Amino acid sequence: MTLPSSDALVFFGATGDLAYKQIFPALQAMIRRGVLNIPVIGVAKSGWTVEQLRDRARASLTEHGGVDEEAFTRLVGLLQYIDGDYNDPATFTQLRQALGGAAHPLHYLAIPPSLFGTVSQQLAASGCAAGARIVVEKPFGRDSASAKALNATIHQVFPEEAVFRIDHYLGKEAVQNMLYLRFANGFLEPLLSREHVREIQITMAENFGVAGRGKFYEEAGAIRDVVQNHMLQVVGLLMMEAPANQGTEAIRDGVAQLFKSVRTLNPAEVVRGQYDGYRQEKDVAPDSQVETFAALRFHVDSWRWAGVPVDVRVGKDLPVTCTAVTVFFHEPPQAVFGGVSPGANFLRIQLTPGIQVTLGLNIKKPGAGMTGEPSSLVLHQQNWNGIAPYERLLGDALAGDATLFAREDEVEEAWRIVEPVLGNVVPVKGYAPGSWGPAEADALIGADGPWANPDPREGQDSPAAAPQASKVGE
Ligand code: BG6
Repeated sequence: MTLPSSDALVFFGATGDLAYKQIFPALQAMIRRGVLNIPVIGVAKSGWTVEQLRDRARASLTEHGGVDEEAFTRLVGLLQYIDGDYNDPATFTQLRQALGGAAHPLHYLAIPPSLFGTVSQQLAASGCAAGARIVVEKPFGRDSASAKALNATIHQVFPEEAVFRIDHYLGKEAVQNMLYLRFANGFLEPLLSREHVREIQITMAENFGVAGRGKFYEEAGAIRDVVQNHMLQVVGLLMMEAPANQGTEAIRDGVAQLFKSVRTLNPAEVVRGQYDGYRQEKDVAPDSQVETFAALRFHVDSWRWAGVPVDVRVGKDLPVTCTAVTVFFHEPPQAVFGGVSPGANFLRIQLTPGIQVTLGLNIKKPGAGMTGEPSSLVLHQQNWNGIAPYERLLGDALAGDATLFAREDEVEEAWRIVEPVLGNVVPVKGYAPGSWGPAEADALIGADGPWANPDPREGQDSPAAAPQASKVGE
């Protein structure tokens, strides 16, 4: 179901971090593209004036992509500010006045989830919720019970079709491209099943630590931060059945259905790691057991995927910043030409940085003998990542298109899948910063290994920067 376009954009938490890092840059970019021309109302309790919010917007843009004076002037023309307590009905009376005749406002809750209930109720009581939609951030809840409770709280005021849960990975061009690649190419789709695939690997590597977000990380950890949402969404889009069409619910049904087939994680198939030095980070407990790395083996119990392990690895302070999916195909059933390199037949989709699609093949070495070597064919690569995720998602939410937002049942299934390995059930292992995590991660995938270590240079347009041959299996 597509809602009517919004005629006002309200963002709570206007003076906060998310607005600074993501919302102002997205607003300016939308104005530049000519797709934002509605009142933009910031709400916060900071004792600020609208001038201070404008200064904050300028500082945000200076730091994130630069100020486009023309677009900025137009943004300032749209921007209003309401300063007030979220518990005070007067704040919402002011908001209702500021909304004027707007019938379909979008309320972006860039505030802690503990305030969602209060703000929703106040929006309803003041008449600001009628015809409106809300946008909320990940992580949505901390586990199954809290996600369900949060959904119940929000649904007291907003029906599911008016709730837009952000997972910025879904706003990435490369992630959408993965879905397109699968269902716009007839030859590829039949290969993606247990008949042809022996293992799927996904690595999300970041070559920096928690970067000042120790407080957030202590409450989240890598599994809550990026596995329950980003990684599972990638698994969903990569492994779902063909949707009936490109409609919002057809695609979300596909992901939700796939999630239902994903077996609840077994702690014996999960490794948690923490980089040495994490405990000395600001706001981190000296005896913290929180993971900054996780390797997890998923199983999808469906006719298409039964028996194919799905190995996911995420981590901070690894050697590179790069996210890639590698689908390994079965080895040839008979060694006609003697041994061929194991792991040489693969489809690799790099999601960040840039986009690259590669096919791994064994190729004959020139000369008399029938021997070969692994080689990779780059099918597609581009550095341009399209519209930035927040700009894309905010634009879609304003337009009423929820396709790239996580539905209630998807979020709850995703928590069900990771629930047994939240907390300290699996003891955390140390690893050296700049390494590929604890050795236990290699043992986890055993004979299905080794892990394909992604290389960000493979997503660069410059051939000089590209590696000579596949890194897989080295
Ligand atoms: C965020 C996580 O959701 O995604 C961060 O909270 C992570 O820890 C980030 O670094 C990665 O996103 P991107 O778009 O930079 O790959």
